[in-house]
Formats: sequence, structure tokens, C-alpha cells
Amino acid sequence: MRVLSGIQPTGNLHLGNYLGAIRNWVRMQDEMDSQSECFFFLADMHSITVAEEPAARIRHVRDMAAALIAAGIDPDRSVLFNQARVPAHAELCWLLNGTARIGWLNRMTQFKDKAGKNREGASVGLYVYPVLMAADVLLYQATHVPVGEDQKQHLELTRDVATKFNADFGVDLFTIPDPIIPKESARIMSLRDGTAKMSKSDPSDASRINLTDDDDAIMAKVRKAKSDQEMLPETAEGLAGRAEAANLVGIFATLSGESADAVCARFAGQGFGAFKPALGEVLVESLRPIRERFLALRGDDSALDAILQKGAARASAAAEPTLRAAYEAMGLMR
Ligand code: TYM
Repeated sequence: MRVLSGIQPTGNLHLGNYLGAIRNWVRMQDEMDSQSECFFFLADMHSITVAEEPAARIRHVRDMAAALIAAGIDPDRSVLFNQARVPAHAELCWLLNGTARIGWLNRMTQFKDKAGKNREGASVGLYVYPVLMAADVLLYQATHVPVGEDQKQHLELTRDVATKFNADFGVDLFTIPDPIIPKESARIMSLRDGTAKMSKSDPSDASRINLTDDDDAIMAKVRKAKSDQEMLPETAEGLAGRAEAANLVGIFATLSGESADAVCARFAGQGFGAFKPALGEVLVESLRPIRERFLALRGDDSALDAILQKGAARASAAAEPTLRAAYEAMGLMR
């Protein structure tokens, strides 16, 4: 098994990233046997599609590295690195630009969402973004890619690129990866709008729980979270058509390790005035240890840089044979 996944180091790690992806990364790392390897990286090359001051970009890479380690990624067991330190990603992306089709990229919903109405003014990087993602995955012959629901379409494109490259050049070079998407919590929604996903790019900080929020901030955000006037139902079926209520119950269930049905049964007949403080408690207790570890790690830039540098050396070595084989398959001398 080769597990690989990435996260953009823009802004804070939030509850959506944590429950949708990072918890799964940690679980997969912890269940690895000695034959398997995990690669986790900060997608700083992808983050150039978001305008940011260079100093903030560097700070965010360190922040996100500290957050991942605080959440349970062990840089001795997993290869943890930032993409910019491993130029093989950019190199393979260019090679795969010859394989990916414009029609495939035109179908990417994330590009449409992020470009909005001003498509002509969007950067080429935003458009080609999924090809870099394909390179990230295929470079390491990843078999399993743990992600949230919103990355599913990008991974389908990755599979298409791998299949077409292998067929076009008559090689059996790229492994076709499987996305690993959690059944629950694959899509954590905004606290202000149950139809929009929780996201770092939402201008309202009240829409998300950040892993750096302190206990009071978490309780206040949960108290203010949008809900409805109805009581909690006996079973999760009764949450149909109640996007905000379903999201809050889903978060509770994921954190407490229960089913949404069990959470409904416990709170049936009570309103959000009773449910929200209980949800706030579960959140505070789950996130406090991660925040405390984060704050301790974040104070030492040179230790974080050393971890990322070591990870990048391991990643470069692992990527090299596949990159070389891709050049060779295409008749490019290196
Ligand atoms: P990014 O940085 O947007 O998000 C990182 C991970 O968090 C998941 N996620 C969510 N899951 C559930 N509910 C939410 N509200 C939510 N918001 C985010 C995402 O699905 C993702 O798994 N393009 C990727 C980074 C990337 C990558 C890769 C991932 C670059 N190369 C190769 C896998 C493999 C991204 O922007 O994720």
C-alpha cells in the first residue's frame, strides 16, 4: 500500500479538513504495516493559485506542517514534505500536460466554482491545477488517496490521465489510485450555511471551526451556528431537508464515534438550545489537545524546517524512478 495525500497551506487547518481528510491520514498511518508507506505533503505549488504575500506563504507552510504533526502525523513514520522542495512534481505535471485533455479540465467543477464569472481572468495555474494533482499522486505510485468528497472529481481525472498515458506510450508505468472518502464527514458544511462546504476561503471566520480556535471561540461559534426551530428527531431520517441540523448532528456523531441515529436518539425531542452546548463540549474536548500540541510545535521554525527538508529528500528519492521512466517513455533525453 502506498498512501498519499496533500493539503493547501492557505490559512488554517479547519474542522472540514480534519474530519474529511486528516483524521483518515492519521488512521491509515497508524494502521500501516512494514511493507507500506505514507506520503503527506503541503501543496504549496497549488497554493500559487491563491494570491498571498511571500512571507505569509512561508508562514502558512510551517503552520500547516505543525498542524498536521499536532493532529497525529508522525514525520518519522510518514514522509512529510512541502511540494516546492520536490521539483519532480512540477516536472511530471508538465509531461502530463501532454496527456490531459482540455475537455476533461473543462468539466472540473472546482475550477468553475473558483473562477466564478471571471473565467477569462482566471490564472492558467487554476485551470491546470488538477494536472499537478495527478502528478502528485502518480509520481509515488500511490494506491490509496484519502480525501474529502470535494476532491473526488480531481482523482477521477488522475485515473484518466494515468490510463491514457499508459495506453498512449504502451507502458505499465502509472498505478491507478483509489480515492478513500470517509462515509461520514466527507463533506462538513459551513456553520453559517448548510448548503456550502466549510472552507478556508469563506470570508466569514464564523463559518468554520479552526484548529487554532480556543475553547471560548469554539463555544461561541457553535452557539451562533445556524440551526432551526424544530426539535431533534428520533432517527437521522428526520433530518432530511434540514441541512444545518444534519451538519451539526453529523459533526457530533463523527467526533463521538457514534452513528447519526444514535445521536438523534439521545437528543430526540430536545431543541438546539440543549444540543449546541453538548456539541460545543465534544468539539472543545476533541480539539484542545491538538491545539496545545500545535502551539508547542509552532514556536520552533528551525525544527519544522528540518522535518520538511528531511521529508523532501525522502520524497525526491521515492519519486525519481517514476519520473525517469516517464521521460524515457516519451522519448525525452534527460
Ligand atoms: P484542500 O487543501 O482544499 O483540503 C485538504 C483536504 O480536506 C478536505 N476538505 C474537506 N472535507 C470535508 N468537508 C470539508 N468542508 C472539507 N474541506 C476540505 C479535502 O477534500 C482535502 O482532502 N487539491 C487539494 C490538495 C491536493 C491533493 C493532491 C490532495 C493537492 N494535490 C494530491 C490529494 C492528492 C486541496 O486543495 O485540498
